[in-house]
Amino acid sequence: MTGCVPGQSALHPAGEDAADVAQLFWIMAAGAVVIWAVVFGAAVYAVLARRKPTSERSADLVVLGGGVVFPTVTLGLLLAYGLTLLPDWGPGEPPDLRVHVAGEQYWWRVSFEGPDGERIETANEVVLPAGAVVDFVLTSPDVIHSFWIPPLGGKMDTIPGRENLLRLRPTVPGVYRGICTEFCGASHAFMAFEARVVPPEEFPAYLAAQAAPAQGDASAFLAAGCGGCHRVRGLAEMGSTGPDLTHFASRTSIAGILDNTPDNLRDWLADPARFKPDARMPGYHMLPEAEFEAILAFLGELE
Ligand code: CUA
Repeated sequence: MTGCVPGQSALHPAGEDAADVAQLFWIMAAGAVVIWAVVFGAAVYAVLARRKPTSERSADLVVLGGGVVFPTVTLGLLLAYGLTLLPDWGPGEPPDLRVHVAGEQYWWRVSFEGPDGERIETANEVVLPAGAVVDFVLTSPDVIHSFWIPPLGGKMDTIPGRENLLRLRPTVPGVYRGICTEFCGASHAFMAFEARVVPPEEFPAYLAAQAAPAQGDASAFLAAGCGGCHRVRGLAEMGSTGPDLTHFASRTSIAGILDNTPDNLRDWLADPARFKPDARMPGYHMLPEAEFEAILAFLGELE
């Protein structure tokens, strides 16, 4: 039932692949209804007809036709139709955009190439231009996760030690919800992210904004040791175990599950495990208030 929300529904397609899947679903559903009706009708007819010894032969024919021949032919046709929708796995046209995504416990590391060829890293959101052919290169450093944006197309596992390729072509601008669909630990259900499809003319501005280094006073952030895990390009470049926070304030969510508001950030920073049990990030509620507030202010400025 969670799949019924349009932003997370495979039946509200906003991409080429998802449109195929939705069409296949409706045609399969219609085929199933027809087969059910014919088989059930044949069974009822046969039971009623067998009460009269003279009509045994016609009952047998109805069972054979309605119960065997018709379902076999119809299922065969549905199978043939389904096979025509299989994606083409051969070497196709080069993509317009390659996005590397690593599924981590319990967040998504996203990286792509900037306007000058530099690597840009972000977390728990992917921004895509409508109409572009996008190749997702999927990996995992820990356990198997599965990357799925239902309105855009099929899902694919992220597997430690290998790269999986998923090609999608989003067509309708909008905000969609991506999810992890392979059980990966205590916070599997909270391993969500946002997929934002923007009109193609808005995409270069997004790339340029993400490529710029961060501005701000990182002293409290560094003093508390946050830099050991989080990178803020231009200000703190030691650690990369956790999400890159370079343009944290421009993201719509915290950790993919909370709206990016000052109150939510305060709660998250104090105790991440309250929202994501078993999260690797420790709580910072023990910090002196002035330092805690300084870190909040710094993160809030990372536009
Ligand atoms: Cu990651 Cu489930």
